This record gives sequence, structure tokens and C-alpha cells, in this order.
Amino acid sequence: MPMIHSLGGLEILDSRGRPTVRATCVLTSGATGIASVPSGASTGKAEALELRDGDPARYRGLGCRQAVGNVRGEIAAGLVGQEMADQSALDNALIALDGTPNKARLGANALLAVSLAFARACAAEAGVPLYQHFAAIHTPGKLADSLPRPTINLFSGGKHAGGQVPIQDVLVVPIGAATVDEAMAMTYAVYQAAAELTLEKYGMRALTADEGGLAPPFPDAEAMLGDAVAAIARAGYTPGQEVSLALDVASSHFYTDGRYHLGGEPLDSAGMIRHLVGWLERYPIVSLEDGLAEEDWANWPALRKAIGGRALVLGDDFLCTNPARIRRAIEADAADALLLKVNQIGTLSEAAESCRIAQAAGWHVTVSARSGETEDDWLADLAVGWGGDHLKVGSITQSERLAKYNRLLAIEAETVLKMG
Ligand code: PGA
Ligand code: ZN
Repeated sequence: MPMIHSLGGLEILDSRGRPTVRATCVLTSGATGIASVPSGASTGKAEALELRDGDPARYRGLGCRQAVGNVRGEIAAGLVGQEMADQSALDNALIALDGTPNKARLGANALLAVSLAFARACAAEAGVPLYQHFAAIHTPGKLADSLPRPTINLFSGGKHAGGQVPIQDVLVVPIGAATVDEAMAMTYAVYQAAAELTLEKYGMRALTADEGGLAPPFPDAEAMLGDAVAAIARAGYTPGQEVSLALDVASSHFYTDGRYHLGGEPLDSAGMIRHLVGWLERYPIVSLEDGLAEEDWANWPALRKAIGGRALVLGDDFLCTNPARIRRAIEADAADALLLKVNQIGTLSEAAESCRIAQAAGWHVTVSARSGETEDDWLADLAVGWGGDHLKVGSITQSERLAKYNRLLAIEAETVLKMG
């Protein structure tokens, strides 16, 4: 049984230059795991709490010295010398140490870093690839059996760019690719075509947003979608047959006073649903994330009725990788796909529970990075081990994104696994 010999913590910087937490877990066997946690900007209200120092004189209050101190101090004191039968024993111990419903005392960033570092150390101790260890955390005895299809950020708006257009991401989904290798090459072609197109149309060099997407001054969301389709065609692919689109509307962030402020007349929920249906009719969209706001629970079933079967009804801020919210959404038939972000809930075991609940209901799972990422690549292993259908990591630029795509390419090369 793994026994924890030591735990270390380090404040490191994420892809926006903001502090985040890295943990090191050493088992008594000598097996070691190191892991870093990401951080969101377009966060859901029900997310577990990321502990920040709040000292305005240092990193504008975003320092993680307290969270790191909690790893080295209270968490280490509670866990070192303890035998941990498995991941859920470790995660239950972390949850008990914290003692709050949203991990506000020790910080979800501290807890998740330890949860992940322990998983890596256990995979090393067992001598198995991390994706197979993640598969066993999902369900004992499970082996990885497929690769996720990448969905790659092409255009950015909302909170990840200058807010020039309210919707957050237009992603390309290389549906015609048979392999990850082919998917990445197709995406590169579309991205380069999009960069040329935005230079011609908007006079914009290829300046990128937080996740590496292009962010020219689109006049509105329609232009963003139309330009994405034009870029697919310009790259030589047939939109909707070889390359489709996924959309993260992230509508919670432009929903105020019960209205959606998309530009033009503010829309009520029924109007917003009609608007989204209009997009589905005109553009090859296969996945629609947060089409309605997280507070607009009552109208999600109508959204699902209106677009279900045509595109995935994917919940991010709406579900926050939270088992209780996912169960409620299943009962209400309010969605059919989960956006899974481990740090929204704060431990691997709880995120695995969310994943299992969604999959047992026949839902699709998109495993997602955050807009603030690190060079760590555990997310690719997690998406493979947990049978994620899609992997959403950001664009095909910037090393914190490419670390995950490169890891997926390596898993594809060393296994016989195929995209589903
Ligand atoms: P975040 O956004 O990581 O900034 O929260 C990502 C998303 O909304 O999918
Ligand atoms: Zn989202």
C-alpha cells in the first residue's frame, strides 16, 4: 500500500504569469510524482475555491503562498507517514482535512495539486503509464480504450480576449481525421488559413488571446462564425464534413437582469434559444457549450429540446464538474454533455465521480484545460484514461497548450488506441 514519505509545494507561474501551485509527493518506496494545477478566468459560481493570498502588493493579490504553505504545513502534517489504500482514500483525507464544502479553507488549488502528485507517484510506483493509472482511478480494472478527439480553439472572444465579441471560443473539430496526428495537421492548416484571413479582413497580425486563439476585432458573433467557416474552406476542407465547429458561448458572462446581451436587442431565454438554433442552421456546429447562463437552470431543458440531437448541449459553468449539479441536470434532461475540469471540484476522485455519472447517463464528456495553464501534461493522460470523447485544451500555439497535444500524440504513437 502506498505510504506518503513527504509532500512539497511550490508557487509557480501559469501561462498568464499568475501564481499557481505545484506539489511534489514522494512515497516511502521512493516513487515520486510532481503536478501543477491550472486556473480559470471564465469561472462558474459553483466552482471550488482557489485560495489566493489577497495581498495587493504582491501579484495583485493573486499569490499562492498560503495554498503552498498549506501543502507543506497542514496537509503534509496530516498525510506524511499515512498509508493510503488508493486515490479515494487520499482524496477523502484531503476533503476531511479541509472540512469545508467548497475547499475554501486549505484551497482547491492546494488539494488538487496534492491529489494529482499522489496519482503520479502511484503510477510510478506501479510502473504503469499515467493514462492507465487514471483509468483505474475512474473504475478499478478499467483499461484505457480510446483517444479523445481534439477540439481546438481558433477564435477567441469574451473573457479570454479583449471582450470584442461576447462569445468566448469558436473551436475547430477535425471530424474527418482518423488519427490525432492527422487532426493536428488539419488544424494547423485551418489556423494558418484563419490567420491569413484575419490579416486581409481586419489588418490584424496573428496576435493571440489567453488560450492562443486569434482575436481580431470581429464586428459580431456572426462574423466570428462566418470567418471560421471561411478559414476551413480556405484550408481546402469541406465545412461540416471534414472539419466542424464547436462553440463555447460562455453566456453566463453576458447575462444580466434575465437578458442575454449578445449585441443588438437584449434577448430573453426563449429569444436566446432561437438565436442559437439559427446559428446551428447556418453553421456546422457539433457542440454548443454554455448556450444559456448558469443561473438560467429553468430554461436549459428547453435548450436541450431545441438543439438536442443536432449538437451536443455541453455544460461548463452550468455544471462545474459537480456531481450534484450533474445529477440534477440529468433528471431535468437539461444537457447531454459534460465539460470536465478537475479543478472546478478540486480532487481527482470527485471529478472521476462526475465523469462516471455523466457517462452512465449516456452523456458525452469533453475533458478541458483552463485558460490559465502550465506546462504540465497530465490532462492528456486523464482524457485518455477516463474515456473522454473530446479534449479541449485551447489553440495550436503556446507551449502550455501544446504540452497536452504533444502528450496525446505520444500516447497515440505508443499504443494501439484510436479516436472514437
Ligand atoms: P476558463 O474558461 O478556464 O477561463 O474558466 C474555459 C472555458 O470556459 O471553457
Ligand atoms: Zn466554457
